[in-house]
Amino acid sequence: MELLALMKHRRSIRRYQSQQIERAALQKIVDAGLCVPNAGGGQRTFICAIRNRDLCERIGTLNLARFDRSRLMGSYVSRTQPSVIDDPSIKSGFYGAPTVCAVFSPRDFLYAIPDAFCCAENMVLEAAELGISSCIIARGEETFDSEFGAKLLEDWHVPQNYAARCFVALGYCKGSYPQEKAIKPGRYMIIE
Ligand SMILES: Cc1cc2nc3c(=O)[nH]c(=O)nc-3n(C[C@H](O)[C@H](O)[C@H](O)COP(=O)(O)O)c2cc1C
Repeated sequence: MELLALMKHRRSIRRYQSQQIERAALQKIVDAGLCVPNAGGGQRTFICAIRNRDLCERIGTLNLARFDRSRLMGSYVSRTQPSVIDDPSIKSGFYGAPTVCAVFSPRDFLYAIPDAFCCAENMVLEAAELGISSCIIARGEETFDSEFGAKLLEDWHVPQNYAARCFVALGYCKGSYPQEKAIKPGRYMIIE
């Protein structure tokens, strides 16, 4: 698919089949996350791809542990692909995706967060190209902020000066794939 058409086609998916994605496809998605524009060319982001469904679910639960719904004030995300904001009965912030990539970047670097989200964006686009559905998920820092979370980071040898910034959930869409989203008008200008 032509790139702009692919970008329009890509949607955040929050309902996943149990089918796992192929290891080779995951490798391409990770590669896409590694070859992104990045601040100062320092290539500081680190991706940890988790292909263990039970572990994804466990971490996904931690992703929501400190989610304060009382401050949402009527926010609404999607009817066809309800988010944790829309449906309080969802217990995992990863929506049952069979693979989840955690994106880490240095704690003390000015552009650590933009770097991580650029990485995530490339990953979701490559996933879309491969026919794999995805969703970028926030709350990276708080997700691992527990004894269990700290143990995982230790087991994965994540450097202590690195923090999780976001996640990319990956899998196959369960049910019908959502339509292209309408673009809100009035969001750009071109000055000649
Ligand atoms: C910075 C950022 C954080 C996001 N965090 C979450 C999240 O925590 N949970 C979630 O379900 N979706 C999350 N999303 C996905 C957005 O909700 C989604 O991109 C938006 O609703 C537009 O829908 P679309 O991706 O289908 O076009 C995030 C997206 C971005 C860019």
